[in-house]
Amino acid sequence: MLTQPSVDVLLGLQWGDEGKGKIVDVLCKSYDVVARFQGGPNAGHTLVFEGKKHVLHTIPSGIFHQHVLNIIGNGVVIDPIILKKELDALTARQVNFKSNLFISKRAHLILPTHRLLDAASESAKGQHKIGSTLKGIGPTYMDKTGRNGLRVGDICEPDFKAKYQQLLEKHKTLLGFYNYPCEITEAEREWFDAIDYIKNLQICDTEWLLHDAVKNKKRILAEGAQGSLLDIEFGSYPFVTSSNTLCAGACSGLGIAPRQINKVLGIFKAYCTRVGSGPFPTELLDATGEHIRAQGNEFGSTTGRARRTGWLDIPALKYAVMINGVTELMMMKADVLNTLSELKVCTAYHSAQGTSDRLPYTLDAAIEPVYTTLTGWNQDVSHCKKWSDLPEALLHYIAFIEQAVGVPINLVSLGPDRAQTLFK
Ligand code: GDP
Ligand code: IMO
Ligand code: MG
Repeated sequence: MLTQPSVDVLLGLQWGDEGKGKIVDVLCKSYDVVARFQGGPNAGHTLVFEGKKHVLHTIPSGIFHQHVLNIIGNGVVIDPIILKKELDALTARQVNFKSNLFISKRAHLILPTHRLLDAASESAKGQHKIGSTLKGIGPTYMDKTGRNGLRVGDICEPDFKAKYQQLLEKHKTLLGFYNYPCEITEAEREWFDAIDYIKNLQICDTEWLLHDAVKNKKRILAEGAQGSLLDIEFGSYPFVTSSNTLCAGACSGLGIAPRQINKVLGIFKAYCTRVGSGPFPTELLDATGEHIRAQGNEFGSTTGRARRTGWLDIPALKYAVMINGVTELMMMKADVLNTLSELKVCTAYHSAQGTSDRLPYTLDAAIEPVYTTLTGWNQDVSHCKKWSDLPEALLHYIAFIEQAVGVPINLVSLGPDRAQTLFK
């Protein structure tokens, strides 16, 4: 039986940290289910409301809404230690997750040795390192696709310890290859304690839960992590993460059919940031870049690292819109540009092959951004309460992007708080 598509997908269109967590939380009043479909504790999704800040890594950003079912899907990789810490933090804030959090049996587990392997691989790469979050993401997805991984559903099986031991032995061999020390006694104890804790949560075949929700006409929001330019297929490879961050990843990472997808909500910052290594054509290594970092508080929610900053990159944005089939855009952090009198926007790249607005195969130093300069709004917009309060220069900035990308911007975010959000 065909049903109306009832799954909307919310994605970051840049290099992550666009403000996905904030918007999922803001949109929750319109949804019954929020489901994370990929990534793991490399993500840091920040929510600010009632004067408090919450950072979520593994848990979907709908957790503060009692009416919302929160699903950690099969495409996610879970570090039990980090998940337990997140849940402890929620308990301390009297957030009840006992009835509205579900974890897929098929989600893979991050072992303490996956973290060591991540560190070993990064250190072996030296100055060519990815700049990973060191959460064990790459090695865990490698074991998943290499068909060696441990899954959440395994933890209640009688042979779980034996399976763990088998994978541990493999990891020890690999760490030996890297000549990297394998000291995990304490981490292993903490990991097994966390596994025992997780056994008490609602672990199930979440694909059925989602299909029942679809059948019952529930509204579902799939919450992306990272961003399109960090996607394993279409990101700035090899400086990417190890999962499918795109809209298509919501299907494989949750077990929903492509025809169930309705809106694709694409989130981008009014400028660009990137954390970790890799090409960044519009990067600003000057006082303006420093100013944006300070105004935007551009320091990683997961690792605390300073984020690199730069001007908005329209060819990259158009590419992300194309491969995701974005139906509407949401522009974040406009307030960060409040005091800049001139704003540059990259509209094309110049290279030996000529000028093009198509993202090339490699984003290296051989391409040069072509900029258009727009007038800044030069005023504090963080207190604007409705779309018509927005200054002319900001409305022009929005219209310029809409025209260049060909998709409407229906939301603008003017500060970290839930309330600082305007819908068109
Ligand atoms: P996510 O990973 O996409 O959820 O984004 P992060 O939480 O890692 O990073 C976004 C940061 O910007 C967080 O510190 C948010 O609190 C903050 N933020 C979100 N929207 C806005 C906004 O419109 N203006 C400002 N100034 N900060 C924002
Ligand atoms: P959210 O969901 C920004 C980056 C890392 C590194 C690369 C690979 O908060 O937007 P990994 O640990 O995944 O192997 O690191 O990807 N990265 C992120 N950057 N936001 C994120 O998540 C990120 N998750 C990973 O910095 O460059
Ligand atoms: Mg983040």
